[in-house]
Amino acid sequence: MSASQVVGDLEPRKASIAPGGAALPHDPPQFRRFIEGSRPMDLEGIDWDAIPDHPLGDDVLRVLTYMQDVESHTVVFPRTIFSRRAVDDEQIGTFLVCWLYEEGMHGRALAKFLDRAGCPVKPRPRGRTTPMDHVNRTVTTLMSAVWKDFLAMHMAWGAVHECTTIHAYRRLVQQNDHPVLNELLERIIYDESRHFAFYMWQAQERLARPGVARIVRAIMNALYVPVGASHQPDALARWVSGFLFDGEEGRAAALRVDRTIAKLPGFADATLLGKWLARKVYN
Ligand SMILES: [Fe+2]
Ligand SMILES: [Fe+2]
Repeated sequence: MSASQVVGDLEPRKASIAPGGAALPHDPPQFRRFIEGSRPMDLEGIDWDAIPDHPLGDDVLRVLTYMQDVESHTVVFPRTIFSRRAVDDEQIGTFLVCWLYEEGMHGRALAKFLDRAGCPVKPRPRGRTTPMDHVNRTVTTLMSAVWKDFLAMHMAWGAVHECTTIHAYRRLVQQNDHPVLNELLERIIYDESRHFAFYMWQAQERLARPGVARIVRAIMNALYVPVGASHQPDALARWVSGFLFDGEEGRAAALRVDRTIAKLPGFADATLLGKWLARKVYN
């Protein structure tokens, strides 16, 4: 199955990507697709001055503040994501550099929006790195050192997180009618779709061996939490997850995430997000 078949309805909003870019002649098409579209988020024409003209509910602002924090938190990830195996891989190493930059720009764009909406982001009183970041860094460093298929898990994890992010932003678009915010969110979704396509492609290739897929699946079954939730207060993560993924349309969106990830080898009956929501939100 090709990555484009898997991406399905998660194809980027804009079909055409500027030709050329930094692609090399030997780059596989899936990597070309990512690298040719990699750039800081397109903010051309965003009407920042019009933001206060359209009031937003406190719930939407709260969700947006949470998402901004998750996006900007990627800045603490380098020590976790740049494992030696990742850096040594020609495509993954390059992808992660670009990915980190693009996610950081999402965080800054959302911070600018929140500022103009009268809800500026508060500086973190105790720095950005949380105790869970230290745990994640130690665990991934050790796993990467001893497990030659470590990147299969890294890529599968990335695919789940990006897919969840896309559907979370889509749910936020559905739940507000602020024209500037929704334009901004559509542009972020465009980037997230490129991220997702890359992770999915890599995960598919690396999970092709059933033994590897079984181990990755077992680890993710045991340790999975939705993107961002591990470094947010539990009550807030549950409330935001309920806002986005509860109710008829929210539950349908969560199901779409799990059905998309079920296309990965070894994940046919996986319901990572659904199970977490059933435990933390739907009960
Ligand atoms: Fe992002
Ligand atoms: Fe992303």
